[in-house]
Amino acid sequence: MAYTNSSKNKPSVLISCQDPKSPGTEAFGIIRTHLHLVSEGNPLRSILICSPGPREGRSIVAANLGISLARAGKNVILVDADMRRPTQHVLFSLPNKNGFPTLFTENADLDIAQKTRIPGLRVITGGSTQTNPSDILSSDTTITVIKSIASQADIVIYDTPPVTVVPDAITLGSRLDAALIVIRLGVTSRDDAKRTKELLELSRLRILGMIINDIQEKTYGSSITGSLNSFGIVSTGY
Ligand SMILES: Nc1ncnc2c1ncn2[C@@H]1O[C@H](COP(=O)(O)OP(=O)(O)OP(=O)(O)O)[C@@H](O)[C@H]1O
Ligand SMILES: [Mg+2]
Repeated sequence: MAYTNSSKNKPSVLISCQDPKSPGTEAFGIIRTHLHLVSEGNPLRSILICSPGPREGRSIVAANLGISLARAGKNVILVDADMRRPTQHVLFSLPNKNGFPTLFTENADLDIAQKTRIPGLRVITGGSTQTNPSDILSSDTTITVIKSIASQADIVIYDTPPVTVVPDAITLGSRLDAALIVIRLGVTSRDDAKRTKELLELSRLRILGMIINDIQEKTYGSSITGSLNSFGIVSTGY
């Protein structure tokens, strides 16, 4: 793929900036269009990217959706709200000294979003904290932080930890506009997917749809190339 991280010759899981016809780029274009359609008349300003369990692809979905929206001309902030296992600084090769948890501290610098090499896309990395992330997210400051980030972008994407493992995504999500659930084929169980949908519904969060990650050639029936396996979106909201 044409988009690479700083490490030489390492294939990237981020969609290509140069090749608009690559399967990953096209898949995220479809997801972006879906978001546009479901938000007509009521623009989505903040979207939670969540999934039931670990290693299901939340972080690369969040990153690629951010890239895709930025390439469509939006001013995007991608927030790494997975303070337990932050990843976005690695994907975008950014320093991670200060990040999302810094915004909850006194005298926080609200200009913490870092530029990436994609015009229009900035990243607030996961940073580091000694405080339990679920305590941070359930504090009253969260609403202020969310609002202040939203005021600096057209759309904000939040990467989060797994829903069935820790409460962070649900706690944060209950304060955001909507959620996309990531399911990884061969990894996510039906029961966990159902449980995740129920937990989001209990928190009254609008579910925009499910992104099926890692659709292989066998199941998808199209030719998949590059290091990024394909994505698809099912269900146009509930
Ligand atoms: N569609 C895909 N194509 C290629 N590699 C993928 C795909 N989806 C996930 N991976 C790989 O699987 C691993 C987990 O992906 P990712 O970090 O996005 O998942 P996560 O749900 O955020 O995991 P964690 O629970 O660690 O936060 C990464 O090494 C990623 O590169
Ligand atoms: Mg992750």
